[in-house]
Amino acid sequence: MLSKSGLVVLSLASACMAWPWGRAGKWSDRQRTTCHGHEALLNYTTVTGFFLQDDPSTNPSGFDYTTTNYGLINQSYPTDAEFDPTGARTLWERFEYYVNSLNQAADKNTQYKVLLFGRHGEGYHNAAESAFGTPAWNCYWGPLDGNGTVTWRDAALTQAGIDQTTKAFDFWTRQLSDAVKMPAPQSYYSSPLRRCWQTAQLSFAGLRLPADRPFVPVIKEFFREGISMRTCDERNNKTWIHEQVPNFLFEDGFTELDELWRGYEAETDEAQVKRTKAVLDDVFAHDDATWISITAHSGAISKHLQVLGHRAFRLGTGQAIPVLVKAQNLRKVDTPTSTIESWWSEPTCANGPPITSIGGTGCICSTGSATATFSASASAVATESSSVTVTDGSVITPAPTTSVV
Ligand SMILES: *[C@@H]1O[C@H](CO)[C@@H](O)[C@H](O)[C@H]1NC(C)=O
Ligand SMILES: *[C@@H]1O[C@H](CO)[C@@H](O)[C@H](O)[C@H]1NC(C)=O
Ligand SMILES: *[C@@H]1O[C@H](CO)[C@@H](O)[C@H](O)[C@H]1NC(C)=O
Ligand SMILES: *[C@@H]1O[C@H](CO)[C@@H](O)[C@H](O)[C@H]1NC(C)=O
Repeated sequence: MLSKSGLVVLSLASACMAWPWGRAGKWSDRQRTTCHGHEALLNYTTVTGFFLQDDPSTNPSGFDYTTTNYGLINQSYPTDAEFDPTGARTLWERFEYYVNSLNQAADKNTQYKVLLFGRHGEGYHNAAESAFGTPAWNCYWGPLDGNGTVTWRDAALTQAGIDQTTKAFDFWTRQLSDAVKMPAPQSYYSSPLRRCWQTAQLSFAGLRLPADRPFVPVIKEFFREGISMRTCDERNNKTWIHEQVPNFLFEDGFTELDELWRGYEAETDEAQVKRTKAVLDDVFAHDDATWISITAHSGAISKHLQVLGHRAFRLGTGQAIPVLVKAQNLRKVDTPTSTIESWWSEPTCANGPPITSIGGTGCICSTGSATATFSASASAVATESSSVTVTDGSVITPAPTTSVV
């Protein structure tokens, strides 16, 4: 009892002090209610002007983080004069110092973190979607386990995907070297889907990391991809994942079985945005690291960028994007509650592959002797999806038009 109340006092005190050098701080649930006397609302802003990716004039198509120093803009920082008077430091060292200074100068309700989002390498579901075309993938092949030759349920990386992780490993080896001195992540997170933990493992395990920043990734359920009706978005059970990557930890409460994927219904856009905010709130509440690596998916990362107020920036397989995030712990103002539709059903062809699958138009299913085209909402799915040639299978899950009540 005594030690417990002692702990509370300690955490209250630390909530009202500057963050230790090199850490961004965190807000425990207790600190949030104590500092405000009210429920808190975490608000995120992307601090622009540091990475090419957040500059509207940078074309995301074909942008490669490995040939652009992760997109870090070469410039001077206001802290250069005190930190690097003789110009001996690398660009990343100077940026790291600047970010640390932002945190040190921040009030107790503000933190700055650099989130490094990596998309997994190419998986079998990506290759299959390219081979079949997006409409046919969405309306027929995606909901199956595979096609007899390859399996895409909780898809593994293809050889091309494995090669992308080698490229990432080599890139990080260079970034960590004395010539570049990019700060190593202090924390690592991964989606529970195989293609992501496989990518994280192959990209980071075995790097010469600083002793105080080891690669001990945590799998978090809500970093998973938008939950489509396709089997690539169903994860394996916890026991099996643990057997594959025993060096990975699981967040508290991670369930043995996948309790979210349904197969007959897909998550709506609104529901995905909501859980994206929830997982970010969780990280900012419980992890005081500044430099955080997150291995996730094209669709998932798009939603994170949206929640963080970053412009849209679509990643190819194996690509990555950094975001300097300013988070503010605001007093929550009660807003009228709104209801969102969480799940919707995507039309599929029940009786075999579609007769036609036309990008921008959709599928025509065979129904015995007759044929049936998809409804308007189905064509909308196809239209959106087909604008992207290599997507994540579940990237595009537009919500039904009536979802916001
Ligand atoms: C949250 O931050 C954004 C800037 O990213 C700002 O426009 C918005 O007003 C803030 N929300 C609240 C509730 O203060
Ligand atoms: C940044 O620019 C300076 C001056 O133009 C140059 O000397 C330096 O090599 C550049 N650094 C990087 C990392 O590109
Ligand atoms: C299964 O799909 C893959 C494309 O990912 C293709 O290479 C293979 O030939 C297909 N197998 C059959 C039996 O259609
Ligand atoms: C977990 O997944 C593995 C691999 O798919 C399977 O062999 C095993 O039976 C599963 N265990 C449970 C409890 O479902």
